[in-house]
Amino acid sequence: MATVESHGLAPVQTLFDVIEARLPSRLELFSKLTKEFSDVTLHNMTVGNVMGGMRGLPCILWEVSGTDKAGITYHGKSLRELQEVLPKWRGSDQTSPEAMIWYLYSGSIPNRAELEQFAADLAARAEVPAEVEEFCDSLSPDISSTAQLIMCLTVWANHSKFSDALMSGAPRNKLWRYALEDALDSHVGTPLISARIYANKYRDGRDRTAPLNPLGDIAENFAIRMGRKGDTDFTELIRMYWSLHMDHGANVSAHTMRLSSSAWTDPYLTLASGLISGTGVLHAGAIMQALRYNQAMVAAIGPEPSPEAVETYICRTLEKGHVVPGYGHALLRSADPRLEPITRFINTRPITDSGSSEQGKMLRLIAHNSTIVPDILRRHVPRMKSTAPNVDSLSGCLMYAHGLDIDFILLVMGCSRGMGFMAQYVWDRALGLPIERPLSVTMDQIMAKL
Ligand code: MLT
Repeated sequence: MATVESHGLAPVQTLFDVIEARLPSRLELFSKLTKEFSDVTLHNMTVGNVMGGMRGLPCILWEVSGTDKAGITYHGKSLRELQEVLPKWRGSDQTSPEAMIWYLYSGSIPNRAELEQFAADLAARAEVPAEVEEFCDSLSPDISSTAQLIMCLTVWANHSKFSDALMSGAPRNKLWRYALEDALDSHVGTPLISARIYANKYRDGRDRTAPLNPLGDIAENFAIRMGRKGDTDFTELIRMYWSLHMDHGANVSAHTMRLSSSAWTDPYLTLASGLISGTGVLHAGAIMQALRYNQAMVAAIGPEPSPEAVETYICRTLEKGHVVPGYGHALLRSADPRLEPITRFINTRPITDSGSSEQGKMLRLIAHNSTIVPDILRRHVPRMKSTAPNVDSLSGCLMYAHGLDIDFILLVMGCSRGMGFMAQYVWDRALGLPIERPLSVTMDQIMAKL
């Protein structure tokens, strides 16, 4: 894809141009770190690091973001800073997912013309291979939405431009361009096939071929195929949700994709691998676990319980030896920065539909709980390193309140995590990162070293 002429004005850069321009300085840094500093110690690895799931070990090269106890920065900018500077889609007050995607790939803020052109390029790619659609339509509705998407991605791999390029011997330093072709196709195709899964499972196939808006963004076209054409709140929810969830460093799904990518697995199968690990309840599966917990709480003590009733309910959970989902985080030690925009969304766009009022009440209870439960947990579980609410405490409930079935919610998260990860995938190829191959050790081998 070449630079696009823009009516006599300066040419609008494509994402290919922007990455190409950034590449020499990143390659230079890569070469410097590899050649000049290869023997410098970055961290003293302890037995605790090995026994403790490598927690906190700075050993996964990650170009697009960095996460630490205080939060996450994307190319050095916090979420809040990005929300202020990234352009918004026409008529939207949420961060534009397309702008966020552009930024993650390039480390630069797209201007309005670049955003429009990028969105148009993505809209032009809004076509899922017929083989994938037919396969999708043949799946039993009893299969979970996530499993369906994973299976569709494995069929989609037959159409990978990256794999074709590999097979036809494309030069190594050009592979990132083919990876980017697949990645861009997947940014728009994954939501579309997800909407098709939804239509097949929950809407007797209605709207699965509804005409898309070629001038719309991915969220609007997703909403159209979900049967939510013109539903501004839903489209805004999707924009907000996707831009928040695109990347969070080397968490389990992203780490899985990074590992898979390191073996040059194609982008579609790499996405499938990340979605599989995302289903675990200790990772993105926690979104559904938190939602189920909150539903059970509302059923037991009602949508407007006293703080004492909430405390009693939570103590009962703890006495059974269960965790209270939605609080604490593997890495963050203060409030999850992604909660702020979600809470703002809840406060500025209350659920008004009378049919959803129970969900609306539940959502308000959960939002309220986020302010009182941390203290309850601090008093009853003093060993918890952080009791702050995490993003899972509210995000699933919010989507449920906007009418999404619980089984489908993980897919909405999976779509965005895939969008963010593809930026890393393309940089994996652009920098020529090596295959991940750590050593495995038995406990006896560790003992023998002590
Ligand atoms: C995520 O966004 O994936 C979660 O916060 C999990 C994590 O960062 O470890």
